[in-house]
Amino acid sequence: MLKRTHNCGELREQHVGQTVTLCGWVNAYRDHGEGLIFLDLRDRYGLTQLVFDTETGTRELLELADRIRNEDVIAARGTVRLRDGGPNPKLPTGKIEIVVSECEVLSKTAKPPFLPWDDKGQLPGEEVRLRYRYMDLRRPRMQEILAKRHRITKVTRDYFDEQGFLEIETPMLCRSTPEGARDFLVPSRLQPGMWYALPQSPQLFKQILMVAGCDRYLQIVRCFRDEDPRADRQAEFTQIDLEMSFVDRETVLETMEGFARRLWKEVEGVDLPPFERLTYREAMDRFGIDRPDTRYGLELVDVSDLAAKTEFKVFTEALAKPRGVVKCIRVPGGADKLTRKMTDGYSQWVGQFGAGGVPVTKVGDGKLEAGIGKFIEPITAELIERMGAEPGDTLLFGADTYSTCTKALGELRQRVARDLDLIPQGKWNFLWVVDFPMFEFDAQSDRFYALHHPFTAPTPEYVEQLMAIDTDDHSPENIDRVESIVSAGYDMVVNGSEIGGGSIRIHRQDVQSQVFRLLGLTPEQAKQKFSFLLEALSYGAPPHGGIAFGLDRLVMHLCRTENIRDVIAFPKTQTGADLMCQAPNEVDAEQLRELHVASTWTGED
Ligand code: AMO
Repeated sequence: MLKRTHNCGELREQHVGQTVTLCGWVNAYRDHGEGLIFLDLRDRYGLTQLVFDTETGTRELLELADRIRNEDVIAARGTVRLRDGGPNPKLPTGKIEIVVSECEVLSKTAKPPFLPWDDKGQLPGEEVRLRYRYMDLRRPRMQEILAKRHRITKVTRDYFDEQGFLEIETPMLCRSTPEGARDFLVPSRLQPGMWYALPQSPQLFKQILMVAGCDRYLQIVRCFRDEDPRADRQAEFTQIDLEMSFVDRETVLETMEGFARRLWKEVEGVDLPPFERLTYREAMDRFGIDRPDTRYGLELVDVSDLAAKTEFKVFTEALAKPRGVVKCIRVPGGADKLTRKMTDGYSQWVGQFGAGGVPVTKVGDGKLEAGIGKFIEPITAELIERMGAEPGDTLLFGADTYSTCTKALGELRQRVARDLDLIPQGKWNFLWVVDFPMFEFDAQSDRFYALHHPFTAPTPEYVEQLMAIDTDDHSPENIDRVESIVSAGYDMVVNGSEIGGGSIRIHRQDVQSQVFRLLGLTPEQAKQKFSFLLEALSYGAPPHGGIAFGLDRLVMHLCRTENIRDVIAFPKTQTGADLMCQAPNEVDAEQLRELHVASTWTGED
């Protein structure tokens, strides 16, 4: 076999005259007749033009070239020369070509299901691409993403290595850790009737590594959550998982901000400014979401006090509800841009978030025109002033309980920004969301839930309040007291997407037990689920905290794709299928018997 001397992306003018051997896939084939054939040879590094002609090659060589087809794998040896037909400025190798003197077909291809060319606009649907993923991954765009993903993990390892972090692996077969999703379970053969869970995250292990004195831990680790995939969510995904000892929140935030800054500098070449910080309350009040995209305006403004001065029923009824509010979004120039059809559509659309509709009015010269303008006439001047509105703007309202109104307007804000193309491209808007509430009460199930996970500490000033709480008391006053406890959790958000989340942890066993009690776990249940953590905490635990970044999401941003499947070499579809290897699949009855597992599946849900 001919031995490769160069790759398909590296030859330039200075190589002219050299004899070289290239290997790769045939990207294009052009027969110019009269004994002249051109091939473009492709590998991960690029494309190089090969020339076969009767002047320099034998008749056999020409015949061989004539039988070559797109996607065949060949090796070609020849001499580098300046392109006879003039340079191709689109290719880095566009100044040269190889005049082939020897060629070997290393592998013939069957008829390709599609050709992996990015530039010909002929890509099939995603199902076909996933079915033949190896063809799809040959595309330069996919090769670019794989290379960038590698670069991102390399920068990650380098940065944290410099900061003294140790990369430590944790088990894939473990006891389940509660990150809130469903577990993937694995039956144990050696212990009949017992099950492992695949980790939703290495949360407890990394905390125990801190108890074990490891001080700074890093792992680029696969996590498994049996939840429905979405555009930015896969059941099997990768975290950059981190934990640090003897730190406060500030140190963790600085270290992690430093990481994001380094990553964007090395991969994007940009210097990120210091990250803005928003409290959870501020994020919800102003943007209606805990991962706000602040690249554009359209902020939610509370106008409840003004709404209370009107007799408009939608407003007064909303304000009569417990925690009822009226909020408003100003759409600059909306009078021209937002059609009646669009605003009617929004009214319907917010129904999915529990809202009854979107009252609308337009701002004229010192007055409100159209929509609900005439019903809220008495507050015209104050509303225009509060909203900073100008003639030609549209005002969109939400009127409901705080949570429904904020949720609906938060979603509407994003929808309007997309519809009116208000989201600036090429901007990186990083921020921290901090000061989350630790607990939320759910009236229906009559219990508290942890907003983050149950190992998140309260901020130091709330420890006493937490410890003093009567965990069985669900009176409104006590619920308020519990819900006012602020956690030491934080999320890193870029352009409205949560790329990382973490917290300072509870390192005192008594505090952890109190949190479990508040979450409704009896001491027996807590012991049964987390005895190893509680035990570890009792043997000398350092104060510690950490974070996990979603590696796939970081790669999505840096590769500018909104589809998480683009950044994973072998992803799953919406129904959790791997179309290439046809997983999940049925297994032999014998395999199940060995595992002491029987299927109850009858073919119907
Ligand atoms: P959390 O559950 O917030 O925290 O996850 C951390 C980050 O992982 C990413 N992520 C996902 N990415 C793709 N698909 C998914 N299904 C998915 N789920 C989460 C997000 C998210 O910000 N143990 C804690 C971390 C800690 O407290 O240190 C944890 O797992 O970008």
